[in-house]
Order: sequence, then C-alpha cells, then structure tokens
Amino acid sequence: MFRSKMVIIFPLILQLPQLISAAQSKPPICRASLGSSGWPSLSEWAALNVSVSGRLLQPAPPGAVCHPGQPTYNAIECPVVLNAWYGIDFHAGNPISSVWDNWNNDSCLPTLPSPCSGEGYPVYVINATCKEDVKAGIDFATKHNVRLNVKSTGHDLLGRSTSPNSLSIWTHHLKEISISKSFKPKGCDFTIDVPAITAGSGSQMGDLNLAASKENLYVISGGAESVSYGGYLTGGGHAALASTFGMAADSVLEFEIVSPTGEFLTLNECQNQDLFWATRGGGGSTFGVITSATTRAWPAFNFLIATGSVGTLPGNPSFYPAMSYFLSQFPLLSSLGITSYNSFTGNTSNFGGFEGNFMLPVTSPQNTSASLTAAVEAIFTNISSTYPGQFEFSLSNVTTYQTFYDWWLPNNGPENAGVELLLGSRLIGADALHNTDAVETFLKGVLPSDVDGLSVELYLLGGKGIADAVPRGGSDAVNPAWRKAIVHAVTSTSWTPLDNAAKSKAIPYLTDVTLQYFRNLDPDSGAYINEADPYEPNWQQTFWGSNYERLLQIKRRVDPEDVFWCYPCVGSEGWEVVGDRVCRT
Ligand SMILES: Cc1cc2nc3c(=O)[nH]c(=O)nc-3n(C[C@H](O)[C@H](O)[C@H](O)COP(=O)(O)OP(=O)(O)OC[C@H]3O[C@@H](n4cnc5c(N)ncnc54)[C@H](O)[C@@H]3O)c2cc1C
Ligand SMILES: *[C@@H]1O[C@H](CO)[C@@H](O)[C@H](O)[C@H]1NC(C)=O
Ligand SMILES: *[C@@H]1O[C@H](CO)[C@@H](O)[C@H](O)[C@H]1NC(C)=O
Ligand SMILES: *[C@@H]1O[C@H](CO)[C@@H](O)[C@H](O)[C@H]1NC(C)=O
Ligand SMILES: *[C@@H]1O[C@H](CO)[C@@H](O)[C@H](O)[C@H]1NC(C)=O
Ligand SMILES: *[C@@H]1O[C@H](CO)[C@@H](O)[C@H](O)[C@H]1NC(C)=O
Ligand SMILES: *[C@@H]1O[C@H](CO)[C@@H](O)[C@H](O)[C@H]1NC(C)=O
Ligand SMILES: *[C@@H]1O[C@H](CO)[C@@H](O)[C@H](O)[C@H]1NC(C)=O
Repeated sequence: MFRSKMVIIFPLILQLPQLISAAQSKPPICRASLGSSGWPSLSEWAALNVSVSGRLLQPAPPGAVCHPGQPTYNAIECPVVLNAWYGIDFHAGNPISSVWDNWNNDSCLPTLPSPCSGEGYPVYVINATCKEDVKAGIDFATKHNVRLNVKSTGHDLLGRSTSPNSLSIWTHHLKEISISKSFKPKGCDFTIDVPAITAGSGSQMGDLNLAASKENLYVISGGAESVSYGGYLTGGGHAALASTFGMAADSVLEFEIVSPTGEFLTLNECQNQDLFWATRGGGGSTFGVITSATTRAWPAFNFLIATGSVGTLPGNPSFYPAMSYFLSQFPLLSSLGITSYNSFTGNTSNFGGFEGNFMLPVTSPQNTSASLTAAVEAIFTNISSTYPGQFEFSLSNVTTYQTFYDWWLPNNGPENAGVELLLGSRLIGADALHNTDAVETFLKGVLPSDVDGLSVELYLLGGKGIADAVPRGGSDAVNPAWRKAIVHAVTSTSWTPLDNAAKSKAIPYLTDVTLQYFRNLDPDSGAYINEADPYEPNWQQTFWGSNYERLLQIKRRVDPEDVFWCYPCVGSEGWEVVGDRVCRT
C-alpha cells in the first residue's frame, strides 16, 4: 500500500460486585495498569531488566523533546525530531513510536500546542536481541498480568503494534540473515531443494532484498523498504509478483517462535504443524513472537515495466463505463502475468481516470516488451473505439531491468508518516470485475462526479500464483479471499490531529459509507488483515473467512490465558478496550 485509533466508547463496567465475589483463583478482570495496585513493583521491573541483560527501556514519548515542562524537553533535539517525524524510518527506529499518530492516541505530538503524556504508549520495552529476551518478556507479562505488546516497525495500519499500560517486546533488532542453496526443515527427514533465506523477524524489506540480490535471488517482498518480516508474513504479505509466485506467507518453510507459554518452538510441516499453519496468515502478535523465518527464494529474472494512464475531462459521463470496462480486463492482464500498482481518480478539475504501471516478470521467452505493450494497447484501443475522441492514453516504452531488485531499489519510497490515517480495503475477484454494471455502481459510489479530487487504489496484485499456491504442509491461514482475488482495493481517510469532531465523522464515513460500496462489489470476499479498517463489522469473516474456526481453536489451545491480545485479532472476543486498559467482557 502507499499512502490512518480505535476509540470505542464502552459503557463503564461496574466491576465492584464481581471483584468482591471473585475467588482468589479467578483470573483478574482487567490487565494491570500503571499506578494501580496490580502493577509490578520497581524491584520486579529491575529484576526483569537483569534477566534481559539490562535491555529494558522506559522510553519517554519521542515528541516530548518539543514540550517545555517535559523531563526530556530539548530545544536542540526538537527540530530534529520534528523534521524526521514525517518519514517512516524515525518511527520504525524508535522503541515505542507508531508510524500513524492516531495509534498513539495523539498523546504526545511534537507539534505545539498539543498535550504531551506517555498515556498512549507502552510503559516498558524489551529491546530484544535473542529469543531469551523475548521469553523473559512473555513470562513476565504472564506472571504479572501486564498487557503484552509486540512492536517491530510500528507500521501497523490497525494499531496492533502499540498499546498503553503495556510491556512491549521490540523485535526491530532481530536482523540476522543467512542464505542457503537448499533447506532441511528441522525434524524432517528430507531436504527442500530450493534456495532459502533465513531472516530475523525484525529484518526489513530493504535488508531482505539486498541480501537476496547479492546471491542473485528474488524473495517475495512488499513495496516499501521499511516494512518488517514479522508483521508482513503473519498477515500474508502481498507483493508486485505475488500473482506469479504466491503470497509471502505461502513461501515460508519454517519459523522459530517463542510461544505464548514461553516455549522455544520450531514450526514447520514436520512439527507444530497447527501453529505453522496459523502463523502464516493468522495475524500478528496472536500466536507468539516470531524470532526468525525461513522462506524460499527464486533465481532472479528480468523484469519489464511500463507506466500508463487513461484520462478524460471532468464531468465526462463515459468515465464510468469506460473505467468499468478497463477493470473487466484486469483478470485477463493477471492471467498474462501482468500486475500493477495504480489508482483511479474521479472528477478532478482537469483529469479523471487511471494512472499506474504495468509490470511483467520474464518467466518465459514469450514475455517480451512487445507482449506487454500489446496486452495493454488492446484495452486502450477498445476504449478509444467505443468512446472516440473522449479519452487520452499514454503508455511509456517498456523498460527492461535485469532483476526485479534493480527496478525496486530506486522506486520503493520514501513513504510518509506522522499523520492521522485509517485505511479500508477489499479483495475483489474476477467475477465481480466482470460484472461491469456492479463495477460502474461502485465507481459512481466511491468517485462521485460532484466531489473533486477523490481517488481509489485498485491494485492489480492477485492472480494464478496466489490462487494455485501450495504452501508447505498443504495449506496455510492466508485469507481464502486472496485465492480468488485479482484486485486489492484500498482507500483511506485522514483528519486534522486532535480534531475530534472531524475524526468522529471520518471514521464512520469510511467504515459505513465508503467501504459499503467496496463490500457490495464483492460481498462474499474479504479484506487483507494488514491493510484494512479495524472497525470492519464482521471482522472474523472478513479477515479470515472459513479459516477462522480453526484459527480460534488453535489460539485457545496455545494461549489459554490470552497473554497475546490485540484487536481485531484471532481470539480477541473475550476482552475489550476500556479507556486505556483491556478488560474481560
Ligand atoms: C508504507 C507501507 C507499505 C506497505 N506495503 C505493503 C506491501 O507491499 N505488501 C503488504 O503485504 N503489506 C504492506 N504494508 C502493510 C504491512 O504488511 C503491515 O503494515 C504490517 O503489519 C507491517 O509489519 P511490521 O512488522 O513492519 O509492523 P508492526 O506495526 O511493528 O507490526 C505489525 C503487526 O505484526 C506484529 N508483529 C510484528 N513483528 C512480529 C513478530 N516478530 N512476531 C509476531 N508478531 C509480530 C505486531 O504486533 C503487529 O500486530 C505496507 C504498510 C505500509 C505502512
Ligand atoms: C536496565 O539496566 C540498564 C543497565 O544497567 C540501565 O541502563 C537501564 O536504565 C535499566 N532500565 C530501566 C528501565 O531501569
Ligand atoms: C537496542 O539494541 C540495539 C542492539 O544492541 C542497539 O544498537 C540499540 O541502540 C538499542 N536501542 C535502544 C533504544 O536502546
Ligand atoms: C465535474 O465536472 C463538471 C464538468 O466539467 C464540472 O462542471 C464540475 O465542476 C466538476 N465537479 C467538481 C467537483 O470538480
Ligand atoms: C508470460 O509467459 C507466460 C508463461 O509462458 C504466459 O502464460 C503469459 O501469457 C506471458 N505473458 C505475456 C504478457 O507475455
Ligand atoms: C470492447 O470489448 C467489449 C467486451 O469484450 C466488446 O463487447 C466490444 O465489442 C469491444 N469493442 C470494440 C470497439 O472493440
Ligand atoms: C520509445 O522508443 C522509440 C523507439 O526506440 C523512441 O523513438 C521513442 O522516443 C521512445 N519514447 C519515449 C517516450 O521514450
Ligand atoms: C485516548 O485519549 C483520550 C483523551 O485523553 C482518553 O479518554 C482515552 O481513554 C485514550 N484512549 C486510549 C486507548 O488510551
């Protein structure tokens, strides 16, 4: 994705009678909170610090350097932080910061005037460098009834990598990478004869792609350099070339994890098969902490790309049927191995239409610049003969890159950050795209002709590779909707920081109005958990479909105490957010 808090106001729960009647052995009703009697003592935190070799942090909110009166106020540091705030790397490299301000509850923005407190951030952080550090954190949280948080980069668009009143395990520095020509999963009596890359879960796409390219290999990886393997793989992981090679999760050969009960486990097709299945698509911070992942790689190949656009003047009513026809051809493009990151823009003052790129991996001698151009031009020709003189087309010459990496490296960012953002999405299958009337209704709904400047990302990323993927062990927990998807349709909303009125309008508008057009277009499909609206009403079905029941059973078995809890995550039903705490419902 290229371009987003949960504020659920729950009625105050009257806990007093339950507390009084609760027997000593009953589980606590809420997780401990800083300042309450259940919160561990300073000496208990100090003992944890010793057990992680002094790697326990208690970070001040990063924006506090700009707030006179805060202990870390620093007039020299402030402009540095302010300047870095709007790029992703600052937040990825900070132990507690989230990429999207709303997930830290805007509780300490570096811009004035704004309040500043640590209330929207984890309280303690383990800067993990080994599996023992991770285990120490899980065991401590379990023993002391402290909310556990897992953060890698803080990219998460649903706020799953931050939480107040928590102990956070920061996986960012788990970055060791090695590559092998073949791979023998631990405990299996066979070797898988493909190149394999084993990477610490904090490895970012840039680290992985660089390491793979040095060995002339391709590894399925996302668009942005900064996204990390942990969150990416647990959600499924889409990529420019997933339609050829399958989702990133489909390429996993083995995981090393620390389980919710603090065990060091190897997950593969020969041991811990249920957790192996669930960890590939079942969502982040739910089934344990991944410390490293081994995925297969492919020998590098040539990569072709052409940028294109289709435009028309504002107010042209043919915009809708023409774009609907264009989208009906996406399944065909996909069947030819072509993918595209693109957007459709509505009635803007001088241009409405499509802008994007067409990408083709060379997987056979048939795949040439001419075959790529011909496939796209056939569609353009149809639109121009159906609507003579009404549309303008452009298609660049095809550029051939020696490897995917050669194209990706200069084109993967930088990505912006430090804003209020909420995303919404839907996976759209071929049948829905072929239904031109329904697509027209969708386009009229999301790009109405009387509103200027709207756009929607209709990424052409799905296809055969995902539909036909055979993950190790036969299957994984990637949303079954991905297997039928051609388009990953994405939209977003944003608002002015701390403008609660604007925020309380923007969020329900996204969830209930805009996204309803998305759902209507392909009602039986679902959405991609890593790039979605956390307020999806029917989230279990939307994010996991028919896999949900099995995922829930596995979650109940491996994490009976719900030590790992996030929303919307598998098994989160027994708890809810009450103010800045989580409590049993
Ligand atoms: C700019 C940008 C570009 C993107 N591009 C793509 C793309 O091309 N393809 C794609 O599929 N997605 C893409 N995404 C979405 C991305 O997959 C998610 O944001 C993902 O959650 C990021 O994972 P992370 O580990 O970097 O982030 P975090 O926010 O740190 O973590 C995300 C989730 O994973 C959990 N988690 C992280 N590490 C671990 C671990 N080691 N073990 C267990 N749980 C863990 C966290 O607790 C949280 O629930 C993009 C997002 C952004 C912001
Ligand atoms: C943990 O110990 C290290 C080394 O002794 C110290 O620098 C750090 O401040 C301690 N962390 C906390 C949260 O007290
Ligand atoms: C976290 O640990 C890494 C690796 O030891 C170190 O480089 C980094 O400075 C630490 N970060 C913080 C904020 O302590
Ligand atoms: C949409 O296009 C029509 C025709 O050009 C124009 O009159 C109208 O102002 C446009 N609407 C917006 C919101 O730009
Ligand atoms: C690319 O090659 C594959 C495999 O032969 C073929 O199915 C596909 O049609 C080709 N696509 C293009 C655009 O050349
Ligand atoms: C454009 O494509 C549609 C759908 O395939 C077809 O019915 C129509 O005849 C084509 N029009 C032209 C002018 O080629
Ligand atoms: C595309 O290639 C042709 C032939 O090499 C060249 O004449 C033309 O200028 C190129 N177009 C662009 C936009 O680069
Ligand atoms: C977010 O901040 C508001 C206002 O300070 C507070 O009422 C609310 O409880 C906070 N939410 C969380 C989840 O911390």
